Amino acid sequence: MKAEEGASYLLRPMTADDIPQVVEIELEAFPTVWPPTSFKRELRSPLTGYLVVVAPGVKVRPSTRQPSPTASLVRHIARALRSLLGRPEPQVPQGPLDLVVGYVGIWFMADEAHITSIAVRETYRGEGLGELLVIGAIELALRKGCRQATLEARVSNRLAQSLYEKYGFRRAGIRKAYYTDNLEDAVIMTTDPIDSPQYRERFGHLVDVFHRRHGEPSMILT
Ligand SMILES: CC(C)(COP(=O)(O)OP(=O)(O)OC[C@H]1O[C@@H](n2cnc3c(N)ncnc32)[C@H](O)[C@@H]1OP(=O)(O)O)[C@@H](O)C(=O)NCCC(=O)NCCS
Repeated sequence: MKAEEGASYLLRPMTADDIPQVVEIELEAFPTVWPPTSFKRELRSPLTGYLVVVAPGVKVRPSTRQPSPTASLVRHIARALRSLLGRPEPQVPQGPLDLVVGYVGIWFMADEAHITSIAVRETYRGEGLGELLVIGAIELALRKGCRQATLEARVSNRLAQSLYEKYGFRRAGIRKAYYTDNLEDAVIMTTDPIDSPQYRERFGHLVDVFHRRHGEPSMILT
């Protein structure tokens, strides 16, 4: 991991201040995703969990980029609507902010944890952060009492599939033409019961190996 000697990455719940950076990462990782995820709405839902990995000791200023004409128009209309409805203006992050280098989103449905999205900034890939996000998602699912974890991946995304297979996800089926940009099929991957003693033992072992290889990151899950 690129963290400086002695410093460790932090895995923590996503906050509203992280959203602009998470949008940036989503756009970089999934350029064809449409519509873009409304992370603000996702964070408000009691059925979701979002975690981010932040780089230790690195701070960034909130974006000062000029919004596009469409974004300006949307903001203008939203402001007018808020004022009509007597709603307060949203808080703008003041910074300096943590540098977010990856995120994972999970939907909790009954006893199932559905990993909906996972991505790491391009320049931080291959350093164990994707694995850390999978560990965090499974740990969170266990704490929420889920029995199974599931997700979809593009059939061509072998790299992501090998990461999931390492954590016991197996191919459970295919969703034909699931991705609207190129009509690519999705492979559905699910785990055996994650609350079984066998899975917990395997998971614990993988986490130990991860710590030996990459160091022990700080983790705050809720
Ligand atoms: C998939 C993704 C999150 C992985 O994150 P990452 O930080 O690069 O992954 P890690 O460094 O933690 O690697 C974890 C495992 O992934 C696989 N992997 C990672 N980099 C790899 C590479 N260059 N070649 C082959 N396998 C690789 C390996 O199985 C690796 O485990 P190992 O080191 O024990 O062999 C990242 O590549 C990404 O953001 N991709 C774009 C978005 C995406 O495709 N998301 C998944 C949607 S289903």
